[in-house]
Amino acid sequence: MKVGDTHYRSIWQDTATGEIRIIDQRWLPHEFRVVTLETLDEFATAIRDMWVRGAPLIGATAAYGVALQMARDPSDKALNEAYDVLHATRPTAINLRWALDELRATLTALPADQRKAAAIAKAAQIADDDVETNRLIGVHGLEIIKKIATTKKPGEAVNILTHCNAGWLATVDWGTATSPMYHAMEAGIPIHVWVDETRPRNQGAQLTAWEMVGNSIPHHLIVDNAGGHLMQHGQVDMVIVGTDRTTAQGDVCNKIGTYLKALAAADNNVPFYVALPSSTVDWTVHDGVKEIPIEERDGREVTHIYGRLEDGSTGFAQISPDGTPGGNPAFDVTPARMVTGLITERGVAEASAEGLLALFPERRSAA
Ligand code: MRU
Repeated sequence: MKVGDTHYRSIWQDTATGEIRIIDQRWLPHEFRVVTLETLDEFATAIRDMWVRGAPLIGATAAYGVALQMARDPSDKALNEAYDVLHATRPTAINLRWALDELRATLTALPADQRKAAAIAKAAQIADDDVETNRLIGVHGLEIIKKIATTKKPGEAVNILTHCNAGWLATVDWGTATSPMYHAMEAGIPIHVWVDETRPRNQGAQLTAWEMVGNSIPHHLIVDNAGGHLMQHGQVDMVIVGTDRTTAQGDVCNKIGTYLKALAAADNNVPFYVALPSSTVDWTVHDGVKEIPIEERDGREVTHIYGRLEDGSTGFAQISPDGTPGGNPAFDVTPARMVTGLITERGVAEASAEGLLALFPERRSAA
């Protein structure tokens, strides 16, 4: 998507130098910083400390991290080291393991002298595929928005609530939850987006809101607790969120607080959609609540908040007393029964084993 007049992806290879660059998301929306990742440790830190974040982008970044390692040392030992170091960075988003498995399968089949070129080509392919996948999610999601616009809101804006950032910054481009919104804008369908702030890291306030401003999408930032009230008063026509891992049965693990939005949506008959590339489905997991590892992050993310002061300086403020520890589970699981549909690159699936397998029949043998 565009930042000012320049088209950016969230990660890319510089064509002149071959270096891998990212948008360092920690400083948005107040500062737009691009950094070059030069070592395996830097790739791992960028994922762990959320310079980049969002399931598809975590996967693409890990793929480029392996490529960098192969350029330096194409041995099996170096490949396994890169896999292990990158895999240990964040536990919940399954795209990380998916991308690392893709790289390892491609590279182990090759002699060492072919691995450097093959690794960077594979990483670039994962990034390019992610862009196309998310574009297609937008095309399918647009049909849902169109239907609501014509049947329920003729002449009025469709109100969409979203949680966290499942935008282009969380993917390589387009985003998952935001892709249908960008497509709706392009199609001239009026929309308005309720952006959950998404404590504790405020991905909604800092990243999704920045994307909305950058793409001139009408929106309001709301506190995480406002969604249920808005739904009770008919001010939300649909919810679209992303996901970090979706089970073979359609349970959806996403940013903490998603489950509460799904409960409120179910109580108010508001359609609750999840947008995802199929690389986010973990076909080996069946019960999301019991089986998906939930990342526990530093309590300081809860007790401190990042922002810009009125004098223009940026920094962290402590919002709780000295001595109060923060508890910080980063994700929760929304059971499939609360999900109206899964918007994938192949179309909209019912959130169930049969629904997913109908769109991805090649997975039947593994089920
Ligand atoms: O902790 P984060 O910021 O990596 O969590 C991101 C989310 O939960 C997103 O909603 C999810 O990855 C979907 S991104 C397309």
